[in-house]
Amino acid sequence: MPEQSATNLVLVLNGPNLNLLGTREPEIYGATTLDDIGAMLVAEGDRLGLIVDMRQSNHEGHLVDWLHEAAGRGACAVILNAGAYTHTSVALRDAIKAISVPVIEVHLSNPAARESFRHRSHVSPVAKGVIQGFGAKGYALALDAAAAMRQGDL
Ligand code: DQA
Repeated sequence: MPEQSATNLVLVLNGPNLNLLGTREPEIYGATTLDDIGAMLVAEGDRLGLIVDMRQSNHEGHLVDWLHEAAGRGACAVILNAGAYTHTSVALRDAIKAISVPVIEVHLSNPAARESFRHRSHVSPVAKGVIQGFGAKGYALALDAAAAMRQGDL
């Protein structure tokens, strides 16, 4: 495991209902569980020299608090799948705006290709970038992006 330094920490934050991954609408979200994704990210983090701290909550305020915590701990990036809060939460948008840690927005599905209420994201305008539609692999792509940003390559 890489040693933690001030800047190699990546918080991976997951919003509502993502604890049910694996059984929740698998035809949309796939069969991979959130624990599987977490284990994959920790292994990938080892390879990239990044410490991955992954969490999930069904409560909006927890996600806001964790965004603040990411800033307080000097994280180099946050990977955020805010679930349905993506489409509703001004509080999350404000929290992202309030911190200087770059946030990479991730979605397993491609919300732009789904119901119209999923087309608006409050996160995208304040995110560094967005990865959506690639299933669980999207998290790994986001971690790669976080590593590249840290190296100054992105
Ligand atoms: C999601 C897409 C959202 O629209 C939905 O509410 C989710 C999951 C995704 O990962 O595809 O909960 O963020």
